[in-house]
Amino acid sequence: MLQFQIFRCPWFLISVLVPCYGSLQPGFSKLQRGHRLDRKLIQSFTEVSFLDCVIECLVTPRCKSVNYYKGANFCEINYENKTTAETRYMESAGWVYSEKEHWPQELAGACSNSTCGINQACKHKRYSADKFFECVLSDCGIPDQKGIDLNTTRREDAIGIHRRIHASCADGYSQSGSGWLICQSNGEWKYNIVCEVTVPLELAFGKPAEQSSTYSTHGAEFAVDGNRGTDLILDNCAHTGDGDTNPWMVDLQAVYSIKSVRIINRGMDEYETDVSFRLRDVTVTVGLTEFDVNTPCGFFAGPGTLSQLVVIDCPTSP
Ligand SMILES: *[C@@H]1O[C@H](CO)[C@@H](O)[C@H](O)[C@H]1NC(C)=O
Ligand SMILES: *[C@@H]1O[C@H](CO)[C@@H](O)[C@H](O)[C@H]1NC(C)=O
Ligand SMILES: *[C@@H]1O[C@H](CO)[C@@H](O)[C@H](O)[C@H]1NC(C)=O
Repeated sequence: MLQFQIFRCPWFLISVLVPCYGSLQPGFSKLQRGHRLDRKLIQSFTEVSFLDCVIECLVTPRCKSVNYYKGANFCEINYENKTTAETRYMESAGWVYSEKEHWPQELAGACSNSTCGINQACKHKRYSADKFFECVLSDCGIPDQKGIDLNTTRREDAIGIHRRIHASCADGYSQSGSGWLICQSNGEWKYNIVCEVTVPLELAFGKPAEQSSTYSTHGAEFAVDGNRGTDLILDNCAHTGDGDTNPWMVDLQAVYSIKSVRIINRGMDEYETDVSFRLRDVTVTVGLTEFDVNTPCGFFAGPGTLSQLVVIDCPTSP
């Protein structure tokens, strides 16, 4: 019976709702009054009825739920629902929350059979002979650039066309730019934010280094060149000759108290040579001059493993 009623009023539903009311019962009965899903906005609309708001969601493949504020006829369509974004579902006076799947898809009229993509919305074309709908860009998608933290978005932020969101850089990244992402009319984000991996400042970086002997071209300076690659041939690491003791030294050019020393061990090269075990019995000593580098700092027994980051703590912070 319900199905029959729907087909009697195909896509004039929006204006001729009364005869179809029976079929909308499931949606209305599951409304969550006094609730709203926060910060998952695709788009918002002013001066629309609640049913138009639901229909807007039905014709937008990415939409999963709606928030509606009756006092201002204000509609928000969301790209999550209260199950997928549990922590964003909250009490909010005057609002109504509703899930897309509680409404019959037929409410979308011609658009219920649309083949629009995930970042598109279906719009009715009333006077077209061949097609009763068209697909138009709806949003820029959820930004996925590495290092961006979307937990700092604001309540009014949305991913829809011509909307913008506020983002910041995740822990371990440093930020430059205004922090706004703008969804352009071509469906692509304009990032006014750059998140770069924060590399901890290496005290030894670029400082003068020496070693007891040099194997091939692998000078002492390659241990402090900032390149963390571990392929001896490709990345050019420091490498002495055989059998040296006290092999390597760096001049920090100022007085520091040393809490730890980090060494990255040699990794595999293209010949699949694994000599990582050679890093063993490592004693780190420090001193105020080149001729008195005898104060114990820390020790690593080893043997090392391939590309191991060895952190040698200096308990007394000499
Ligand atoms: C919420 O969205 C998910 C994923 O799209 C869906 O599986 C689920 O049925 C939706 N509704 C509810 C009430 O969980
Ligand atoms: C959608 O497609 C189905 C199956 O092809 C058809 O029965 C139905 O009438 C179509 N609905 C609309 C609104 O075009
Ligand atoms: C954002 O918050 C969620 C839940 O509160 C958390 O699981 C996630 O790791 C956070 N993301 C970042 C990049 O901090």
